[in-house]
Amino acid sequence: MTNSIYAVTGASGHLGHLAVQELLARGVPSSNIVAIVRSRDKVTDLAQRGVDVRVADYTRPDTLRAALVGVNRLLLVSSSAAGQRLAQHTNAIAAAKTAGVSRIVYTGILNADHTSNPLAGEHQDTERALRQAGLPFIALRNGWYTENYTDRLAQYVEAGEIVGAAGHGRISAASRRDYAAAAVAALLQNSEGNRTYELGGSAFDLFDLAETITKITSANVRYRDLPVDEYIDALRRSGLDENAAEFVAALDVSIARGDLETNSQDLEQLLGRPATSLADVIGEARQHHA
Ligand SMILES: NC(=O)c1ccc[n+]([C@@H]2O[C@H](COP(=O)([O-])OP(=O)(O)OC[C@H]3O[C@@H](n4cnc5c(N)ncnc54)[C@H](OP(=O)(O)O)[C@@H]3O)[C@@H](O)[C@H]2O)c1
Repeated sequence: MTNSIYAVTGASGHLGHLAVQELLARGVPSSNIVAIVRSRDKVTDLAQRGVDVRVADYTRPDTLRAALVGVNRLLLVSSSAAGQRLAQHTNAIAAAKTAGVSRIVYTGILNADHTSNPLAGEHQDTERALRQAGLPFIALRNGWYTENYTDRLAQYVEAGEIVGAAGHGRISAASRRDYAAAAVAALLQNSEGNRTYELGGSAFDLFDLAETITKITSANVRYRDLPVDEYIDALRRSGLDENAAEFVAALDVSIARGDLETNSQDLEQLLGRPATSLADVIGEARQHHA
């Protein structure tokens, strides 16, 4: 759509910021891009490039309605406020409807139809809210970010191990940059009606992760798989409170059940190229933290 206005929420966050950069890289004029943030200070780089920065908060519907005036297509990046997300997303969807937005692209969770992942409920409910709103939408069911692991690369290397309870559960993770590029492809594509994409890269388990880190860093890192109770104890000893430890362990249990694995080729299809490999994301993280 030539001359459409594209808005991205969470543009001060990792994924939203990458999505705005990707829109610019794809040649969308900066004046056609709206970056929605809570704080302008975090995106001075985008303002300097001519992006229309607007301030809104998911908890304040009036600010959302004002920020979405004139917007044709919206990338609704899921909020980071777990537990409050359904209400927040519902506010954004209602504001988009009022503003006459013609497409919402929403970043949900992989396998939303059948996952037991403890984070899934709010994403499933948001997809339901989108359907009920009757506004055309694309659900991007994102798998794990590879960065969930590579952000802890230095820690793994120092400890010589990754500890978890995911067993041989496989994870179709991909980099945030790939998910952002896929989100922009979904935002820009010419298609009618609602669509759902299951997004993930090549699957690996935590044994493979340790092996790949060992290969790339030359440090000896192994994966130590623990029974769930022992993993919860280990997390508590490392400083997490009971609830946090149980939550983190439940994420691994979900991985062990296969919730974060997909053989879908949707990510590759949206990107028009293979997803970035695990080895390359680790290599990049290593350089970044060197
Ligand atoms: N797939 C995965 O592995 C994975 C991992 C982590 C998170 N996620 C989900 O994916 C989303 C994007 O990931 P990310 O790495 O970009 O997260 P992030 O860096 O934490 O960014 C979250 C964004 O949400 C914004 N936000 C939070 N509360 C808001 C509110 N009340 N009103 C308006 N904006 C609000 C934040 O704004 P401020 O900058 O003002 O705080 C920030 O821009 C996360 O929010 C979360 O839902 C997925």
